[in-house]
Amino acid sequence: MAAQPDVMDKLVSLCKRRGFIFQSSEIYGGTGSVWDYGPLGVELKRNIKDRWWNAMVRSRDDIEGLDAAILMHPRTWEASGHVAGFVDPLVDCKTCKGRFRADKLEDARCPQKPSKQPGQHDACQLTEARNFNLMFKTSMGALEESASVVYLRPETAQGIFVNFLNVQQSMRQKVPFGIAQIGKAFRNEITPGNFIFRTREFEQMEMQFFVAPGTDMEWFEQWKQLRMEWHLGLGLSPERLKFHQHGEGELAHYARAAFDVTFDFGGTLGFQEIEGVHNRGDFDLTQHQMFSNKKLEYFDQLNNKRFVPYVIETSVGADRVTLAALVNAYREEAVEGEEEGRVVLGLHPAIAPIKAAIFPLTKKDGQPEMAKAIMNDLRMAFPLDYDESGSIGKRYRRQDEVGTPFCITVDGQSTADQTVTVRDRDTLAQDRVDVSQLKAYLAGKLVG
Ligand code: GAP
Repeated sequence: MAAQPDVMDKLVSLCKRRGFIFQSSEIYGGTGSVWDYGPLGVELKRNIKDRWWNAMVRSRDDIEGLDAAILMHPRTWEASGHVAGFVDPLVDCKTCKGRFRADKLEDARCPQKPSKQPGQHDACQLTEARNFNLMFKTSMGALEESASVVYLRPETAQGIFVNFLNVQQSMRQKVPFGIAQIGKAFRNEITPGNFIFRTREFEQMEMQFFVAPGTDMEWFEQWKQLRMEWHLGLGLSPERLKFHQHGEGELAHYARAAFDVTFDFGGTLGFQEIEGVHNRGDFDLTQHQMFSNKKLEYFDQLNNKRFVPYVIETSVGADRVTLAALVNAYREEAVEGEEEGRVVLGLHPAIAPIKAAIFPLTKKDGQPEMAKAIMNDLRMAFPLDYDESGSIGKRYRRQDEVGTPFCITVDGQSTADQTVTVRDRDTLAQDRVDVSQLKAYLAGKLVG
């Protein structure tokens, strides 16, 4: 299979220039591996999150939504194993002051020239590996002496586990059922990077599906397939997606079985995890029972028995999928009859930040007025952009570059017969559409 091109540097620059993603606190020199979503980025990520929420919560009777707090009781993280075990082995270099993951030295580069792996220069002085906990610690309470240590959650999943009975009982759900949430998570990664691929603050979309022991592998298989279908439905190319099964040594302490959905980010990054599907058994609920002294059992009325459910988890990063969607969509094309080619973000129309752009062909003859009237009529139905500056070709290029699927032009004929042209980003075909039919025309093209 041909390797996918490395488009990361071009994307980082496009994302900044066109208002998708900015470095956090840039005017102060930036915050390491933390990013801000600009006007178009926030729309793109929100569309991806909405699509997940619709697939996981709105379209199903057996999954409930939740929005748990970021700050949780510190015992939570003892029970989950994060205080003791959420660590990466860290080495420092006393010469260059670099910090590296001891288990990933082959992927790291020493800042000394020529570029080599840490430890391979004569001057390198690597320390012994020591464990570094990835959780951010802060304190709760007004007085520092009496304040208690709390953590910024490193995953959203624990908010779901501790609310298992609250949700099950309040919503009268019967096992099997799931709880889903979208929220921020924080990890003090030693080697973050690759733009928004690995960051210190990110968003997860997690779902825990509670099942009867013995039915877990069946559900695991089902969720594995459903999640792959979701990524395909987002428009990610089938040849860029594949499963990676965790072998014995790779399984997390809580997992009975695990598959990653991986995506080919191109270049040297290649295939990387975007989502994990785990069979967590009864590990989490049992741990929380033990640490809280509260029963987290389900009473199965039909069979008159109590049990601690097993959990199938699907856990996907909203930022990582946003990056996958951008990488997948980026293309450069030659344009017939033009010297300059075009850059296109071929995003699935459902996640494109702007659905249609509206242009008056000229700034006279009532065309801007008519274009603005159309804009006002459609703006509550779709995110739109109005543009009257520069040549029509330049305006098309600006929209192609941010992935706008349709461009609507008001021309000389429009004011006479109330029709406009609608140009398709990918095929470049132009339809003439009656203004009264425009909303239905766009809605029809945007479904799916
Ligand atoms: N509750 C299970 C869990 O958190 P994980 O594999 O550590 O599992 C799940 O994380 C997903 O969260 C990953 O597949 C990835 O998409 C996203 N993710 C994890 N760490 C991340 C980071 N530092 N930056 C961006 N996304 C991250």
